[in-house]
Amino acid sequence: MSGESTLIQELRALEAEALEAVEATAGADELEVVRVAYLGRKDGRISAILRRLGELDASERPAVGAEANRVKATLGEALDARGRQLEAAEEMAGILDEADLSLPARSRFVGARHPVTIVVDELWEIFRGLGFTRARGPETETEWYNFEALNTPLDHPAADEQDTIYLSGGHLLRSHTSPVQVRVMEGYAPPIRVLAPGMVYRRDTYDATHAPAFAQLEGLVVDEGITFVDLKATLAEFARRYWGPGTRIRFRPSFFPFTEPSAEVDVKRVYLDAEGREHETDWLEIMGAGMVDPAVLESAGIDSERYTGFAFGMGPGRIGMLKYGISDIRAYFENDVRFLQQFARR
Ligand code: DAH
Repeated sequence: MSGESTLIQELRALEAEALEAVEATAGADELEVVRVAYLGRKDGRISAILRRLGELDASERPAVGAEANRVKATLGEALDARGRQLEAAEEMAGILDEADLSLPARSRFVGARHPVTIVVDELWEIFRGLGFTRARGPETETEWYNFEALNTPLDHPAADEQDTIYLSGGHLLRSHTSPVQVRVMEGYAPPIRVLAPGMVYRRDTYDATHAPAFAQLEGLVVDEGITFVDLKATLAEFARRYWGPGTRIRFRPSFFPFTEPSAEVDVKRVYLDAEGREHETDWLEIMGAGMVDPAVLESAGIDSERYTGFAFGMGPGRIGMLKYGISDIRAYFENDVRFLQQFARR
C-alpha cells in the first residue's frame, strides 16, 4: 500500500471517529474539547497526520493535503451544527426550568349546545315524528297577539304592567309563545300541526326558580274533528317517547283564557332499577294544555263551527332541570363554562 493511500485512509477513519465524537457531546465545553482534539493546530490529530507528509514523495502530497482539507471542512461544519443544536437545547431547558409544569394544559374549547337547546331539540324530534312542523313568531309582540286574540282582555292580571315588559309604541316582549298560535292560524289553513319554541319575557325577579327571560315551547293542532281524545293521546305518546314507555300522564282541570276546557298536565315516571325493582317518581307538572277556545279560532279568522283544535305550552328549561338535576335556573344564564361544558359531546 502506498504512503499516500495509507494517510488518506487514516484521515477517513479519523473523520468517522471525529463525527461520532461530535454527536456524543452534551455541551459547549465538551464540543470545544473535541474541536481541539481533532482540529487543534499544535496537538490536533489531523495536524499529527499532516506532519507525516514529509514521509511521502512530493507527488503524493497534494492528494493527501486535499483530503485533509475536506475532512477539516466537514468536521468544522459538524462542530458548528452541533454547537447550534446544543445551544437550542440549552435554551429550551432554561424555558422548562422557569415553566410551571403543574399548570393545566391549554385545551381547545369544545363547543356545546346549551342544555335548554338540547331539550328543545329532543322534544322537537318527537313532535316531528308525530307530524308537527316547526313555527316561530316575533319576540316583540302587540297586545292584540299576546293577549286579546288569545281571549285575554287587557284588564286580565296577566296583562298587568307588573307582569309584562312593555315597550314603547304599544309593543311588548311576548310573555308566552301562545301568540304564535294566532300568527300561524292567520297564515295557514287547517290542518295545522305546529311546534313553536322560543324565548318569552316577564317582569319576574331573578332567583333560583324565576328568570325574566326563559324558553317556552308551544304546540297547536287545528283540524276538522279534533277532540280532547287527540290531545290526550298526543301528549301521552309524547310523554312515553320522552320519559320512557312506563310513563303515566294525568290531566288536572285548570283555566287558561285561550283554551276551554283547560288542563295542567302532570307526568309520573315508572322505571326499573338495576335489580329489576319498580320505582315511580312523584307527579310532576310539565305543561298547560286544552282545547283551543272557539273565540281564539275566530280571532285568527278560522271557522270555529267547522274546525276544532288543541294547544299546549311547556317550559323546556324546567324539563331540563328535571332531566339534569339542575336546582337553580340561573345556571342556564350565567355562561359558566364549567356548567355548560358538561353538555359538550365528547
Ligand atoms: N301560555 C301559557 C303560559 O305561558 C302556557 C299554555 C297553557 C299554553 C295552555 C297553551 C295552553 O297553549 O293550551 O303559561
